[in-house]
Amino acid sequence: MRDTCWIDQKSRVDYATGYNSTSRQQRRPMAMRIMDGRRPKEKKFYRLASLFSPLCFSRPLLKTAPNYTFNSSRVFSRCRDLPHLSSHLHWTFNQSTGQLDIAYRHGGINSTNKWVAWALNPTGSVSAAMPGAQALVAILQNGTTRAYTSPISSYATSLQAGNLSFPVSGLAATYQNREIIIFATLTLNGGASSMIHTWQEGVVSGSTPQAHSMSSDNTNAKETLNLVD
Ligand code: HEM
Repeated sequence: MRDTCWIDQKSRVDYATGYNSTSRQQRRPMAMRIMDGRRPKEKKFYRLASLFSPLCFSRPLLKTAPNYTFNSSRVFSRCRDLPHLSSHLHWTFNQSTGQLDIAYRHGGINSTNKWVAWALNPTGSVSAAMPGAQALVAILQNGTTRAYTSPISSYATSLQAGNLSFPVSGLAATYQNREIIIFATLTLNGGASSMIHTWQEGVVSGSTPQAHSMSSDNTNAKETLNLVD
């Protein structure tokens, strides 16, 4: 079954080609049709504007979270393409019970001995999102995944297993098509509506997760997540 975040794309313009329909008249590039019947000054304006169009138009066809279908027939009511580390979050939140079902997808996994993690941080700030993060960790080794929880108290963590500050059930991780997916159900304090979350990846040596890269993609992998919007 398709994720209910799915958006009908039949009517969308493909900004890469400029075509937006299959009819004969409309098979001419969109930019040419916009120019039809314009005065020279207007044409100049449209030509200039077209130079910037790739910056202005988002490309909905590349937004992968809304189109994702889970193998396991799981369905989530909301989803978001995260801005770093090829990651996507799908969730269903019941604000009155605090029950949060999530699937965190982390793509681009091209080697074994990797860890990925997604965490909520109920007590931290966006500027220091790691200390206090309540992490769901998945480790991929020898083609198999194992998932566990790890409360992070400092930057010196080795992601030791431990209980989080809220109950977690149904924790599982899968690996397929170079993507690790973590599934879990979290029970948050009722009334929560937004929270800091952070996500990350790194390598595993022996059985110990090592510190992640400090590139901007890694250290910026955090934001405030609005659970109900
Ligand atoms: C072996 C595990 C880990 C180690 C050793 C580690 C270590 C570090 C260190 C040393 C920094 C730089 C701190 C500074 O700027 O002074 C950092 C930053 C950061 N880490 Fe980790 N980290 C680990 C796991 C994680 C996990 C699991 C997450 C999220 C799920 C995460 C998210 C972040 C973020 C977002 C930053 C940027 C600074 C901040 O907002 O706190 N890290 N990490």
